[in-house]
Amino acid sequence: MNTNLIHKIRTSFQETFKTEPLMIFSPGRINIIGEHTDYNDGFVFPAAVNKGIVAAIGKSDSKNSSIALAVDKNEIVKICLNDLKPSAEGSWQNYVLGVVAEIQNRSKTIGNFNIAFGGDIPGGAGMSSSAALENSVVFGLNELFDLGLSKEDMILISQKAEHNYVGVKCGIMDQYASMFGIENHALLLDCRTVKSKPFKIEFKDHELILINTNVKHSLSDSAYNDRRSVCESIASMLKVKALRDASEFDLESIKDKVSPENYQKALYVIQENERAVKASKAMEAGDLKTLGKLIYASHNGLQKQYKVSCNELDFLVEQAKLNGHVLGARMMGGGFGGCTINLIEKTETASFKAFVSEAYKNQFNKECSIYSVKLSNGTGIIQ
Ligand code: GLA
Repeated sequence: MNTNLIHKIRTSFQETFKTEPLMIFSPGRINIIGEHTDYNDGFVFPAAVNKGIVAAIGKSDSKNSSIALAVDKNEIVKICLNDLKPSAEGSWQNYVLGVVAEIQNRSKTIGNFNIAFGGDIPGGAGMSSSAALENSVVFGLNELFDLGLSKEDMILISQKAEHNYVGVKCGIMDQYASMFGIENHALLLDCRTVKSKPFKIEFKDHELILINTNVKHSLSDSAYNDRRSVCESIASMLKVKALRDASEFDLESIKDKVSPENYQKALYVIQENERAVKASKAMEAGDLKTLGKLIYASHNGLQKQYKVSCNELDFLVEQAKLNGHVLGARMMGGGFGGCTINLIEKTETASFKAFVSEAYKNQFNKECSIYSVKLSNGTGIIQ
């Protein structure tokens, strides 16, 4: 865990609010495979990482308002608990406000509070800094005010905050992984039952690295919501609850009733769901070559069928393919920017990093960032 970050957030809280806080760490996540399958009731394969959000939280004596402080941005917002409404689109405040509103929607009562937070994953990296923030707020408030919420309740509150305050109709993967992560494990999550099976990740000679394009293209939120509604409408044409219940054969039967673009999107989801399950089997068998191929195939589908990639991500995956020691690479998260995840032979990591950094700089005249991450436990109190 990032001790400098913890120190910085604790100190900011103490200096601003003159009391001792409760400290919470809520991790971001990676996703090995299973992208855009979560809101189709399908399978995903995420893991919490040792980067995320640190929050300091405490009760406030104020009769009128609560205060949230975004330490990195040096921005503060006053929250009036009996007059909540979403703030401007795209502002961090909606993650906090949304969680508070969704707690109240469950008829739970909280008093005024102060919170200060900061993180060590950049927003837009596709590593779920937003879910980490939501989870840290709901977890902290649950502790402070003894709300009796289970972790399952908390992730649903975080997800609703994102739907209703942030305006992204996200699935449950990010909030789940961030809350339920297990050190050194990835979780094969069935997004219908919201139950997961942990897989110990020890690739021996290989490792996972992330390469951040450092871009976040606009329209990603609306494109996300559009994809979701295409999936839902095709599921309803097929008279199934979600695309998870459909086969390629089923989809074929309505081919002439949907546009070729939407057909490809639904086909991608059906195939990606199968890839996630196959990936878990490959992992169980220690078959990293097959896992890598599935990862490359996932990117191909995200790029060409689901159309949520971008030039920068495609370029990074192409560079990976040039290197026989990278078994698989793909964009990760919602898309239109953020990171690729790469399964690479450890001895090759240093030279691949140098190669890809230079190639990216030459191509786009900007830097990419490369991270190694450790798989970590989910949201919890920092002792
Ligand atoms: C975002 C959403 C998730 C999931 C991914 C794509 O991260 O928050 O629910 O849909 O995109 O797999």
